[in-house]
Amino acid sequence: MLQSLSIERTKTKKRQPAADQLGFGNYYTDHMFIMDYEAGRGWHSPRIIPYQPIVLDPAAKVFHYGQTIFEGLKAYKTEDGRVLLFRPRKNFERMNRSNERLSVPEVPVDDCIEAMKQLIAVDRDWIPTAPSTSLYVRPFIIATQPQLGVAPSTHYQFIVIMSPVGAYYSEGVNPVKIFVESEYVRSVKGGVGEAKTAGNYAAGLKAQELAKDKGYSQVLWLDGVHRKYIEEVGSMNVFFKINGTVHTPALNGSILDGVTRRSIIELLGHWNVPVVERPISIEELYEASRKGELEEAFGTGTAAVISPVGELNWQDDVLVINGGQTGELSKKLYDTLTGIQMGKLADPYDWMVEA
Ligand code: COI
Repeated sequence: MLQSLSIERTKTKKRQPAADQLGFGNYYTDHMFIMDYEAGRGWHSPRIIPYQPIVLDPAAKVFHYGQTIFEGLKAYKTEDGRVLLFRPRKNFERMNRSNERLSVPEVPVDDCIEAMKQLIAVDRDWIPTAPSTSLYVRPFIIATQPQLGVAPSTHYQFIVIMSPVGAYYSEGVNPVKIFVESEYVRSVKGGVGEAKTAGNYAAGLKAQELAKDKGYSQVLWLDGVHRKYIEEVGSMNVFFKINGTVHTPALNGSILDGVTRRSIIELLGHWNVPVVERPISIEELYEASRKGELEEAFGTGTAAVISPVGELNWQDDVLVINGGQTGELSKKLYDTLTGIQMGKLADPYDWMVEA
């Protein structure tokens, strides 16, 4: 399919922002990738074009029924000028699992990786190199059929846009304060929580706003049935170090299978740090803290990489973790993962793919 890839270069390059202005997701590169899908024809017309608005019929199903999937991954430029991607196959494999759940047609993984590499090559000079910066790549699919019946769309677009980014949280790798959400839930087992689809993020906004109003950066999500078991933190997976062992909620159908989550579990395994995936209740966490056994807590995701949790508030019971400081293991995981990603450390696990 990609044999027919066409490339139209922009005639007016944008001015690039300075590294200290970036923030997260505020600027977009000069080009984007797009391909179309029609039932009976499959994915076709792959093209790299100047970054531009897309024109859609107001009846397009994505606007009404939320049939849409996204992914997020980062590209890094190393000191010796190579461009590295972190485990890109994992993202497109997950995209296909999300597609399956949302009745969106499968994408060809190898072609998607190749298209993304070609797009990155065209906009190579947009990859920032300052510490903690990278080029965030956002592939997504939207249902474009202009038809209001509730049924899978017959037409889709797959688009890749790219944004030079700095830290996701203004706190960077400093600990964040988290509100444990006891009323709203992000997802339930059997729903779409393990798919990377817009609705999960929209469903989280209200609780996030309420937590912000109370002075917290994000919420800790509990399960949708009992409000008892910990699921995710904000838009990230979550880990707790309790008495020397690292615990993370087991994937149960309502938790996203994070690429960073998987990589942290693998890293800890290589370091012989005991790590278990299991249901973890919020009571148990508070109990571990009371016994002095809760040593560290951190969120993991592509955007923030590792985000330490310094404080939890569950029904006005405030728990301070590791004196509100970044834990030793969180710091080591952050340094190792970002070191490998930026090509500063050896990559013994073959995670990095040259673009
Ligand atoms: C991630 O960090 O992996 C995310 O999905 C966050 C993104 C929604 C900004």
